Amino acid sequence: MNIVAIVGSLRKDSYNRKIAEFMKNRYKEKMDIEILNIGNLPLFSEDIEDDPPTVVKEFKNQIKSSEGILFVTPEYNHSIPGALKNALDWCSRVDRVMKDKPTFIVGASNGNVGTARCQAHLRQVLNSGGISAIDLPGNQILIANVQDHFDKEGNFIDERTIKYLDRVVDNYIKWAEKLKS
Ligand code: FNR
Repeated sequence: MNIVAIVGSLRKDSYNRKIAEFMKNRYKEKMDIEILNIGNLPLFSEDIEDDPPTVVKEFKNQIKSSEGILFVTPEYNHSIPGALKNALDWCSRVDRVMKDKPTFIVGASNGNVGTARCQAHLRQVLNSGGISAIDLPGNQILIANVQDHFDKEGNFIDERTIKYLDRVVDNYIKWAEKLKS
């Protein structure tokens, strides 16, 4: 499967980015994950939505040609990081490139609720008429106290979470393949 991954954090040493990279490597036999850059997208404006800058066109084309979308995101102020919301707003208009795409959400934060509030908001946005992406209910990963899941060298090392991730990824692939047929 050809999957695009959108990371909600722009931070250089982002745990969420490291998890996306970990997944790209661990599941390479099952999915080809391409991690997209949302940090260079301009702020959305209706004034330029019909003929947006090249960087937006390229971003939307990558999503359009994908078979699914993986979100790996932290929670900011009990919600979705602004950079991620901006990317979603671009995708909600004109050619609506996320429509009917199977999505799945992984979220890691350093708080105790592991992005639960962000994920609830993200799902609501993905279900909006403009975006109309779909997800497999219950098939999600919430990683609380994310700093405790990495070693000093920055490797994702929590075996229990990794085993759970294996299951959720398999569920996602099975579901997304079924949707195609
Ligand atoms: C946070 N953080 C945070 N954590 C949380 O569990 N709930 C929250 O509402 C917030 N809010 C918040 C707002 C802003 C602006 C920042 C910068 C951070 C902490 C956050 O979980 C932590 O910085 C993560 O490490 C961010 O993820 P990355 O950048 O490591 O992927």
